[in-house]
Amino acid sequence: MDIFLTGGAGYIGSHTCVELLNAGYNVTVYDNLSNSSQESLKRVEKITSKKIRFIRGDIKDEQKLISSLSGMDAVIHFAGLKAVGESVLKPLEYYDNNTAGTITLLKAMQKKEVKKIVFSSSATVYGEPLFLPLTEEHPLRVTNPYGQTKLMIEEILRDLYKSDDSWAISILRYFNPVGAHKSGIIGEDPQGVPNNLMPFISQVAVGKRDELNVFGDDYDTPDGTGVRDYIHVVDLAKAHVKALQILDKPKCEAINIGTGNGYSVLEMVKAFERASGKKIAYKIMPRRDGDIATCYAKAQKAKEMLGWTAQKGIEEMCEDTWRWQINNPDGYKSTNA
Ligand code: NAD
Ligand code: UD1
Repeated sequence: MDIFLTGGAGYIGSHTCVELLNAGYNVTVYDNLSNSSQESLKRVEKITSKKIRFIRGDIKDEQKLISSLSGMDAVIHFAGLKAVGESVLKPLEYYDNNTAGTITLLKAMQKKEVKKIVFSSSATVYGEPLFLPLTEEHPLRVTNPYGQTKLMIEEILRDLYKSDDSWAISILRYFNPVGAHKSGIIGEDPQGVPNNLMPFISQVAVGKRDELNVFGDDYDTPDGTGVRDYIHVVDLAKAHVKALQILDKPKCEAINIGTGNGYSVLEMVKAFERASGKKIAYKIMPRRDGDIATCYAKAQKAKEMLGWTAQKGIEEMCEDTWRWQINNPDGYKSTNA
């Protein structure tokens, strides 16, 4: 089977390439490299000893999509901008790239009769939880333009399926992806100051940053710091392979991809200290705007529909992040892999 990955050179996409190639799929990556480099794909080829077909292209370019989709059986749609703070400052860029870009992709797919898609959504669509753990039935309400684009795309996909029930659509709502491939040669490569917790902690451990700012210790959680459902990126990548396999029949399903366990910021700091043998200096700061206290998944639907359960715990998430970080202190610009 031939799988077309928009945004496949990025963090989650590159890890998914490994799992798809290992499972025997042919992989085409379509990426404009706005937040990634082709180096990630060269390293995926090294890990798997298999070839990737790469097309440098934008999801807003319908003609290029139409020509590139020839012979494809299904699409995994990762391409998108993902920084919440930036989306507040540049909403039009986010709506244009993520929402309009997805509409263009779906039009091209319709024209080419490629009607199978796995879409990267986010737990951000649940907003401030009304109950925990979060089930797929939890009301959807978002608080920032990035989250809006995810929710709008979900609604577009549901409407598309209502209009034509020959489509097969898996909407995966990721919780907090972290970690890296065991090889230590692919991983998350944030540009500039990391927004997310794990890349920030690992940059403190390696000495690139002095200390972690812990955003709030007065939440209603066991130690007062925010609690999240961290999921190893390799587990997440494997969920995509499973999600493709259920697209043999028409459907439109949203599925949580998380572990079902929540860990606090300070628990993650301690776990990273154990994995790296380094002390993580931190200071308590005010809460970050828009943050919630606690968020974790009910992961039952993924187990029932996909036959998928997360296998890797926080120790492995931290060890694998650390291996990637020390081998590649400058991410894909490092040359020693
Ligand atoms: P990433 O930035 O590493 O990967 C996204 C890729 O999309 C990049 O390679 C980028 O160059 C490409 N891209 C962006 N706009 C494009 C366009 N117009 N045309 C073609 N390519 C384009 O991000 P990631 O962490 O791998 O995330 C993948 C997807 O998962 C995104 O849609 C993101 O919103 C979603 N997601 C990520 C997280 C997370 O914490 N990483 C959580 C929930 C959901
Ligand atoms: C963020 C996004 C969310 C996105 C998710 C996964 C925001 C407001 N939300 O969620 O939309 O789906 O990433 O990509 O950006 N923390 C610190 N110090 C730091 C960084 C984070 O204390 O330097 C804390 C946060 O307050 C939070 C936890 O660590 O409690 C996790 O933060 P982060 O990794 O940014 O993920 P989310 O906030 O869950």
